[in-house]
Amino acid sequence: MTAVGIDAVEIWTGNLKLDLPGTFAPEKGEDPEKYTKGLGLNASSFPDSYEDIVTMGANAAHRLMERKGLEPDDIGRIDVATESAFDNSKPVSTYVAGCLEQVYDGDFHHANKGERKFACIAGTQSLDDACNWIRAGRNRGRSALVIATDTALYARGDAGEATQGAGAVAMLISEDPSLVELSTEQGYGSADETDFLKPNQQFPSVDGKRSVQVYLARMREALEDFESVAGEVHEDDFVYAPFHTPFPGMVRKAALLAYRHVIRDTSIEDELADEIGRQPRPEAFDSDEEYRDALREYMDALKGTDRYAEWYDATIDPTLTISREVGNWYTGSVHVARVSALKQALEAGRDLTGEKLLVGSYGSGAQAEIHAETIQDGWEEELEALNVDEQLADRYEMAWEDYEEIHDVHNHEMDVDVEEFTTPSEEFVFDGWGRMGERK
Ligand code: HMG
Repeated sequence: MTAVGIDAVEIWTGNLKLDLPGTFAPEKGEDPEKYTKGLGLNASSFPDSYEDIVTMGANAAHRLMERKGLEPDDIGRIDVATESAFDNSKPVSTYVAGCLEQVYDGDFHHANKGERKFACIAGTQSLDDACNWIRAGRNRGRSALVIATDTALYARGDAGEATQGAGAVAMLISEDPSLVELSTEQGYGSADETDFLKPNQQFPSVDGKRSVQVYLARMREALEDFESVAGEVHEDDFVYAPFHTPFPGMVRKAALLAYRHVIRDTSIEDELADEIGRQPRPEAFDSDEEYRDALREYMDALKGTDRYAEWYDATIDPTLTISREVGNWYTGSVHVARVSALKQALEAGRDLTGEKLLVGSYGSGAQAEIHAETIQDGWEEELEALNVDEQLADRYEMAWEDYEEIHDVHNHEMDVDVEEFTTPSEEFVFDGWGRMGERK
């Protein structure tokens, strides 16, 4: 079977930055280490007043098309994954196509367009749809453009406020890809959950603590389901494991759980499952409390082993580098984690061709998905072409008052006629709700 997967990727960060230990923590009266060590975050990216999900997505896609020398005719499908959409009818992909058509002679009239929604996992679902479209032979030699774009904002004062972020990831999905081939095997863990909702509201209603447990439970189910089709996963099978990263501290928990599973240690059964009431506690424990204490003790001991620390440093930590500086990008987050790991490998001069990634995606509501990817021999060239460091360094660092103003601006209720902190340069800019971005 022909290899299908991600041929190229581009990242577009919101042009503003909020420093968490320096600016956010003092305002909240919190110890800066709660953010840097506890959540594992240094900063968040925010969109300037002339940026939104359309402009960030279009800018990432445009850069990708330019770099790969593509014309609209080369693209047979544009899928946008987002949970920040402002239009319940017209998909964001039509707005993005409108932007891109301003700068190309051709158009996307014969490309299929859509919008995917399932919280953060929608980015991976779109990727999957695009791969299946190619595998089914419907692409007529063309590639698919998958764009994951979000402004991940919480109400001011919400516990999630520290984990905000904004940015877009554009991916080109093709036959014989240069970056990674996706496995056809996938595993899912999916259940109707209500810990993170946005029913006709822009900011989510979140039960933060519970959302962490739901993430872990669904991820474990997805891993087990993946193994049922792909065979047992072992700790050395994968060079990196990029997971959905709402904040790095979440991935620290998920990694420990995954590690315990892959080393096949069943000394304490069904960890965490009792906490969300889905399974009875094992008989060996007289009370839930006793069971939870034993579990915590066990997990802490496992975390303290050299073997775990080495595995974590090699397989997980490199996936978190970009996330620490940008926060949660919702649909783009796991795709940023993949780039982060490969970028580290490039900088370390590692040869990764043929090595495998274990990719764990997650979306509240809730669903986790696990699949494997095989790194292709063009990966170094693709990574070398990215300018992530420059983008992050060029962000305007907001004072607290700037942050409050921009947060209001991106609440869809508000008038958008406010100050711009940065000057747009050769990029699409927001042009009013319901209109595509203009290129400046
Ligand atoms: P919180 O309650 O303010 O924080 O918010 P906390 O008190 O739990 O502290 C966080 C961590 O910092 C803890 O570590 C503390 O011990 C530690 P842990 O025990 O968890 O390992 N800490 C410190 N460490 C060092 N020095 C200190 C210090 N102080 C505390 N001085 C919460 C945490 C996750 C609830 C909040 O950020 C939140 O509500 N976030 C939004 C929801 C979220 O991201 N959930 C994650 C899973 S759901 C998901 O990933 C889906 C999502 O992306 C949406 C989608 O799919 O669309 C969110």
